[in-house]
Order: sequence, then structure tokens, then C-alpha cells
Amino acid sequence: MESLADSKVWADYNAAQADRPVRSLCLDAMAYAGPGNGRCAIDLGCGAGKETLALLRAGWHVHAVDALPDTRERLMGITPADADGRLTIEVRAFQDLRVLPPAGLIFAGYSLPFIHPDRFGGFWAVMFTALQRPGILAVNLFGDRDSWADIAEWNFHTEAGARQLFDGLEILKLEVYDDDGQSFRGPKHWHIFDVIARKP
Ligand SMILES: C[S@@+](CC[C@H](N)C(=O)[O-])C[C@H]1O[C@@H](n2cnc3c(N)ncnc32)[C@H](O)[C@@H]1O
Repeated sequence: MESLADSKVWADYNAAQADRPVRSLCLDAMAYAGPGNGRCAIDLGCGAGKETLALLRAGWHVHAVDALPDTRERLMGITPADADGRLTIEVRAFQDLRVLPPAGLIFAGYSLPFIHPDRFGGFWAVMFTALQRPGILAVNLFGDRDSWADIAEWNFHTEAGARQLFDGLEILKLEVYDDDGQSFRGPKHWHIFDVIARKP
């Protein structure tokens, strides 16, 4: 497996996402959060921009973050005219973020596992601070039984450890996927936690 520094891995991944539906984790988070009404949502690791677009369509102001250098061009290419002024784009690695805008919804689809474990805690604190009250946080995390769990540059969690990350929040949904399947790199064992939590 190439490291994240090889951004071609993500460019290829994102290029293959055009025809998939909006992630159900994002749709569920939007349902919990209610209409955007101009509130701020953050899409961490926005990739192809499918969830960014869904949030814009639901009336959110979206702050989209991704380390890929061509993120701005990619998102500007899919942003509808009536979303003018409601999209801000930050091209930056998560671990280099020092602040995020206050947000009523934070979504991170299959992106947070790719932070070095030494930098994950600092990033998590920045993200946690940005989440407003009331606010909804929806993320995928990788579990310790995932077949990528020996990659030292990425972070993996036991279920207890994953739950602990949400201390102070109300967990609305925590689904565990622990099965063999496919990735964009070929067959693997997936161990994933899909979590939606509310900051009361
Ligand atoms: C697996 S893709 C997921 C994209 C999209 N959220 C989805 O659900 O399809 C991971 C995305 O996160 C970005 N990413 C991964 N690690 C990152 C990091 N440490 N900092 C910023 N962006 C990162 C990649 O560039 C890529 O666009």
C-alpha cells in the first residue's frame, strides 16, 4: 500500500466516485441535524465532492477540506450557481489544521483513518472544538481487525477506544462492519465503525 503522501492513490479513488450515491452516513447525519438554513457544515476529506454538493443543496454553508492540491478546481466544477458564496475550500492536511470554523454538522467519510496516530489526537481536539452545540458529528473510523491495521502511518481503534473518542457526546448510532470485502485496491478485511454523535 502506498502512503498517503502518494496523492495519486486518492486522485484515482476520487475519480472513480462520480456515479456512486451520496453516503448514507452523511444523509443520516443531515436528517439528525435538520435543514441547513445557512448554518456551517464541514466535509473533511471531501474527495470527489458528492457529500459537499448534497450539503450545499440542503442549504448548508460548506467548509470542504482535503489535502489534494486540485481540490478547489474539482469542487468549483460541481458547485451549482445558486450555492455562490456558501462554499469555502481549504486545501490542507488534517494534521496541519489548527482551527476549523464553528459548525453544526461535521462529516468525515473514510478520511480520518489516514492521519498518523501521533497526530490524530491533536486533530480530533481541533475538530471537537469546532462542533457547535447542538451539533452532529458523523465519521467512519477503522477498527483494529482491519487488514490495513499494520500500516503504522494510519490510525485504528478498538471498539472501546472508538467509543471513548465520543466522550461528552451522545452516540446516536455506532454500526460495526467486520467482514471480508473489496477496496479500490483489491480484496481485504474491513473493520469499520460508522458513528453519528450529537453534541448536546
Ligand atoms: C477514501 S477518500 C474519501 C473521499 C470521500 N469523503 C468519500 O467518502 O468518498 C479519502 C479522502 O481524504 C483525503 N485525505 C486523506 N487523508 C487526508 C489527510 N491526512 N488530510 C487531508 N485530507 C486527507 C484524500 O485526499 C481523499 O480525498
